[in-house]
Amino acid sequence: MRADLEKVLFNESTILARLDELAEEITRDHEGKDLTAIVILHGGIILMADLLRRIQMPLRIESLGASSYHGGTESSGVVKLLGTGLPDVRGKHVLILDDILDTGRTLQLVKSKLLEGEAAGVKTCVLLSKKVIRAVEVNADYVGFEIEDEFVVGYGLDFDGRYRNLPFIGVLKESVISVGAAMPGIPIQTTP
Ligand code: XMP
Repeated sequence: MRADLEKVLFNESTILARLDELAEEITRDHEGKDLTAIVILHGGIILMADLLRRIQMPLRIESLGASSYHGGTESSGVVKLLGTGLPDVRGKHVLILDDILDTGRTLQLVKSKLLEGEAAGVKTCVLLSKKVIRAVEVNADYVGFEIEDEFVVGYGLDFDGRYRNLPFIGVLKESVISVGAAMPGIPIQTTP
């Protein structure tokens, strides 16, 4: 275990086995449809790479940036869409990919924008869903794992911009969070 981690919640092989199941379900549900996956940056990038390569149909990939955390471990409560705006989704079946469903604000905002853009259908997929009372009403159609209400990192999720590249989902030690900075230079992987 790395010195900066409190615990590992899901190791890499557990995550990948779950992605196999989700990919099969998504492939089945979208048979015969022209599917566009829209990944929410940056958190959804690792999920995108691992999940979409398991989906057994040709699809398009688009992205959009969203931010509600500004470096800490609490949502600011305001979601900003970043970058050049929404892809053209008129008449398309889209699958939104994000790392985690927490307050629900991000997914709800992106979903409503895509529906305004006249997508033919919008489904949502998250690796993690926190067991919390959501600030807004929204569900994910495909969920990797449910977790308790704790701040997690890895597999796309960051603390202060770091840790997205951990191949597993973990919880940081309180001492790391309170210092307010990730510890650089600690070897990334020991088998959890
Ligand atoms: P909402 O609250 O809009 O959250 O559902 C979505 C975005 O908030 C970030 N988020 C987290 N990031 N560890 C993180 O590193 C967490 O435990 C966590 N909870 C929420 C994340 O960017 C997600 O897309």
